[in-house]
Amino acid sequence: MNDAPAPTSLERAEKLQGMGCKRKRVEDVRFTQGKGNYIDDIKLPGMLHGDFHRSSHAHARIVRIDTSKARALPGVVAVLTAEDLKGVNLAWMPTLAGDVQMVLADGKALFQNQEIAFVVATDRYVAADAADLVEVEYEALPVVVDPFKAMDTDAPVVREDIRDKKDGAHGPRSHPNHIFNWQVGDKELTDAAFAKAEVNTKDLLSYQRVHPCPLETCQCVVSFNKITGDLTIYGTFQAPHVIRTVVALIASLPEQKIHVVSPDIGGGFGNKVGAYPGYICAAVASIVTGLPVKWVEDRIENLSTTSFARDYHMTTEIAATREGRVTGLRVHILADHGAFDACADPSKWPAGFSNIVTGSYDFPVAHLSVDGVYTNKAPGGVAYRCSFRVTEVAYAIERAMDIMAQKLGLDPVDFRIKNFIKREQFPYQSALGWEYDSGDYHAAMQKALEATGYRKLREEQKARQEAFKRGETRELMGIGVSFFTEIVGAGPSKNCDILGIAMFDSCEIRIHPTGKGIARMGTKSQGQGHETTWAQIIATEIGIPADDIAVEEGNTDTAPYGLGTYGSRSTPVAGAAIAMAARKIKAKAQMIAAYKLEVHEDDLEWDVDRFRVKGNPETFETMSALAWAAYNKVPPGMEPGLEAVSYYDPPNMTYPFGAYICVMDIDVDTGVHKVRRFYALDDCGTRINPMIIEGQVHGGCTEGYAIAMGQEIAYDEDGNVKGASFMDYFLPTAVETPHWETDYTVTPSPHHPIGAKGVGESPNVGSVPCFANAVNDAFKFAGSTHIPMPHDAYRIWQAAEDLGLHA
Ligand code: CDP
Repeated sequence: MNDAPAPTSLERAEKLQGMGCKRKRVEDVRFTQGKGNYIDDIKLPGMLHGDFHRSSHAHARIVRIDTSKARALPGVVAVLTAEDLKGVNLAWMPTLAGDVQMVLADGKALFQNQEIAFVVATDRYVAADAADLVEVEYEALPVVVDPFKAMDTDAPVVREDIRDKKDGAHGPRSHPNHIFNWQVGDKELTDAAFAKAEVNTKDLLSYQRVHPCPLETCQCVVSFNKITGDLTIYGTFQAPHVIRTVVALIASLPEQKIHVVSPDIGGGFGNKVGAYPGYICAAVASIVTGLPVKWVEDRIENLSTTSFARDYHMTTEIAATREGRVTGLRVHILADHGAFDACADPSKWPAGFSNIVTGSYDFPVAHLSVDGVYTNKAPGGVAYRCSFRVTEVAYAIERAMDIMAQKLGLDPVDFRIKNFIKREQFPYQSALGWEYDSGDYHAAMQKALEATGYRKLREEQKARQEAFKRGETRELMGIGVSFFTEIVGAGPSKNCDILGIAMFDSCEIRIHPTGKGIARMGTKSQGQGHETTWAQIIATEIGIPADDIAVEEGNTDTAPYGLGTYGSRSTPVAGAAIAMAARKIKAKAQMIAAYKLEVHEDDLEWDVDRFRVKGNPETFETMSALAWAAYNKVPPGMEPGLEAVSYYDPPNMTYPFGAYICVMDIDVDTGVHKVRRFYALDDCGTRINPMIIEGQVHGGCTEGYAIAMGQEIAYDEDGNVKGASFMDYFLPTAVETPHWETDYTVTPSPHHPIGAKGVGESPNVGSVPCFANAVNDAFKFAGSTHIPMPHDAYRIWQAAEDLGLHA
């Protein structure tokens, strides 16, 4: 007889490894052994390889393409040009933003490295050699790369195909290079607030063009079965179901014959949401040859063609009283979309959720106007670790608040606190139309100030400035502050869709007779650890240990339809679907338990992993026993089995927030900086796995550091890309990466079933303005207002030079 006391509820809960515990990442068992399964690991019998010949010009008419030498190279199977694609009506493809994009350059090239011909060969290297043998005769055209010149009367017309179109996908166009004007807010009231403002600021705050730059580039293997008509596409897709539907629509193939599989993905960050010419060309090549075709982008192709991010130029004005209360916000954004509008935004949002620009502050009135323009640059405009343009506007408002504080002679923290939305104001209706779900900004900021000893840091900074003036040091100290509010969880079908498909997400759970199970979702992890965290939600909800739940994503044949993973939407949307599906399972299990225990359902109560009879805790049925019973002894009239599906349409977005503080020392003579401290406090509501959250914050802050301190996809005036390799594009290694201090508060989302908000984007959103504010803060005492990003050593040195700080 076993005399050991029965485990307590607490002990049983611990065993589940449910929400709130630092469960180790189950996917790391394969990743740390080099056993991940990425696209380049897929090798199918008879597989061919594709590679592009790309444009050397940023803008040029294509007079002639000669593919004869390429086709003559042994091993080359086919060479496709736009003319070939016209035969199958695929020379152009629709973009996610309602525009159309050339798959292969049709008549002219619109940006450097644009795809011109697709070579298919038996070997990757032969394909690359043959791509070089494609001969193109160009007639160079004038180039426009500066968005501020795109709408000049004499600007070269980028898109001749729509030159005379008065309306685009998002309303009227005022110039052949104009894409849209989008406005939100009350212009009259805002103008009136500025007319009577005691103090106002107006600054052009540019967020340079950068790239999400995942370590695994975009790639696919497409296999068409000529006998059955089935098209299988393996790809690095963040949204596999959307890819399936898009392929069905543009290739007129029956959707049930299309099978999209996303295996392990080596980082996405928004780069792998859209459809690219490589996917279309590989599909056409496979359909034509009847053989599988692999296309793998190299680093230069990735950085210069598939998806840029940002390139937003934001003229930001704040109106305030002399005491420091904000009275109005007016923002105009010039958005450079490159040669095609291929932004990855929900349909109704041509500038994403940039109307979250009011940030964490109680602006009584605001107005935002965005103009999108075409230039001779790569298309994209992806949500790089950002919920649709939130990062850009978080930078604008957080820089602008610092600039206004400086003008008012207030500490940037005190100015922010004075204008925070107060806890009792939630749910808060913003002047630009969002309903913030929950927040406690004052508590978060207070915690950050105490943790960093902020007031003491300011004293130290003052002493440093005095020493600098006395010539005792050449090092300045900057203290950067940012307090961001994110908007994640796209999204409610009332205002979010992609190509008409509502942005819900889904989960299907099957519990097997032995009490183990499998769960499938419409999301797709790219490193975020979904296999670990989704099982934790189920463990807490239905009392089956997380280790007993397999999580599967990324196969459109088996997963329920979902809109994928980007913009930190997985937890707010799919995370909710998981909880709801689990609750359906629990409800059925309760009925089975009542039947087995011969009591009414209402006489049962839930206790971690079992239903017990109220007032008689020794009489219970565990979830594991109920799983068996579901296949063996269900109440009369009930269907056997224990499965559930949930498609969750969220009622609102979630609004995570955070307080970030950076302490930076800057050598005025070299421009070299050192991040002494970086403190990141995040509030993402209920925390599923604190360790994974910490990892997300580390990764996002590292990206934010890279962006603020050096990254830029720059173009020269001829449209040549200057930042298309890791020699020119700053990718921090462990050597450059600062140490991150993380912290948190918990303000649950009132409308999410488990109170969780997203977190993946937050550190990228919050850290960029924090670093930028730190650099700017260091130079304030010398009269500087705004030093633009990126803050590489040369530019910092130049700023010091311009301020007369060098001997
Ligand atoms: O959509 P994506 O997965 O990129 O972003 P997310 O929803 O913010 O989730 C990123 C990771 O953090 C996932 O593994 C989540 O389960 C985890 N997370 C968490 O543990 N607790 C939260 N409140 C939010 C996210």
